Amino acid sequence: MDAHPFDHITSEELRRRGSLKWTGYPEMLGAWVAEMDFGTAPGVIEAAQETVASGMLGYAPPRLVRNLRESTAAWLAARFGWEVDDDAVRPVPTVLSALVAAILHFSPVHRPEAPVVFLTPAYPGFLDVPSRLGRRSLHVEMVAGDAGWEVDWAALEEALRGGALLILVNPHNPLGKVYAHAELERICDLVDATGSRVFADEVHAPLVYDGATHLPYASLGPTAAGHALTAVSASKAFNLPGLKCAQVVLSNDLDRLVWGAVGSIVEDGTANVGLAATAAAYDGGAAWLAGVVDYLDDSRRRLEGLVAEHLPAAHYVAPEGTYLAWLDVSRLMLGRNPARFFRHQAGVATVGGTDCGEAGRGYVRLNFATPRPVLEAIVHRMGAAVDGCDPNDSGDLDDYL
Ligand SMILES: Cc1ncc(COP(=O)(O)O)c(C=O)c1O
Repeated sequence: MDAHPFDHITSEELRRRGSLKWTGYPEMLGAWVAEMDFGTAPGVIEAAQETVASGMLGYAPPRLVRNLRESTAAWLAARFGWEVDDDAVRPVPTVLSALVAAILHFSPVHRPEAPVVFLTPAYPGFLDVPSRLGRRSLHVEMVAGDAGWEVDWAALEEALRGGALLILVNPHNPLGKVYAHAELERICDLVDATGSRVFADEVHAPLVYDGATHLPYASLGPTAAGHALTAVSASKAFNLPGLKCAQVVLSNDLDRLVWGAVGSIVEDGTANVGLAATAAAYDGGAAWLAGVVDYLDDSRRRLEGLVAEHLPAAHYVAPEGTYLAWLDVSRLMLGRNPARFFRHQAGVATVGGTDCGEAGRGYVRLNFATPRPVLEAIVHRMGAAVDGCDPNDSGDLDDYL
């Protein structure tokens, strides 16, 4: 394959640009936080610049909010076949703020203190949110089946019993799983039967590869729409989480009423630049995104060869969606904290599996949304560190306990 323009971006350049991924662990190769190294779509930058240049630095004018709602609804219809009213779309600064709103205001009506249920391993940023809000959380561990990661249905039923708020991240971070229609239906049945609710986080939905199809949970039908609160965002696909604009989709009348009473507190945190940039991403960013998804598709496959060559005892299955690789390094005998081993011995920053819950023990999450030569250097360095470590000399490994 010919060199792609992204291939020419170096780690030095990335560090100079100064993103969190490349400065959070200075001197290391960055493969941790979910940021991409490819900039964003040209129209997004123009919209952001225009917003600032035109002095739109006050509170959000109705026109910006209206455009955001229209663009989001049009995007959801065109990309996923999900028809929602513009009115159903509400801006919020982040998906995290939407989760907080879901926990505080959209738990089962009959059980306002209901537990919050995670399918683990889970996105680390969410896991301690319930306890910080004084709520209990339950982890239902995903299981590795013949056809990939599967829900433990009995455990999920048990966790939902009596009513709970289920956090359904689809595509799944960190597993890269895109839930199939039948799985979503089965989740919907369980949620309905137990009087539970769903917070559907679909932030990675635009990043799905050929072979899988993203189905918005609330689009399944009236039952799912009646118990789901959905969060979407352009922030992962267009790499703009710093612009502070995600969207909540309200798919039933009761939630619209509740949101009418409590939503403005959250909505007010949304940034003008984010509103304009997100609308531009949805309106005109599809071609740029297609190029990025192609590049990532090649990288997720290429990673198979890199892992086989440099980390042969590790296990990796290319994700169906997201730019996150979930690497099983348990057979490498790297101690209890493999991410720490890779930071200290390879100079590579990944996310530790246990940051995603106890179900992640023995894994690291590696972000492959980076130029291919950088990805090669990352895996090469990880492999060299493993080769250089003597498992019989427990001295080294004690540091990673
Ligand atoms: C699944 C998932 N949800 C939410 C977030 C955070 O999104 P936000 O910055 O909009 O809160 C991330 C960030 O990586 C994510 O991967």
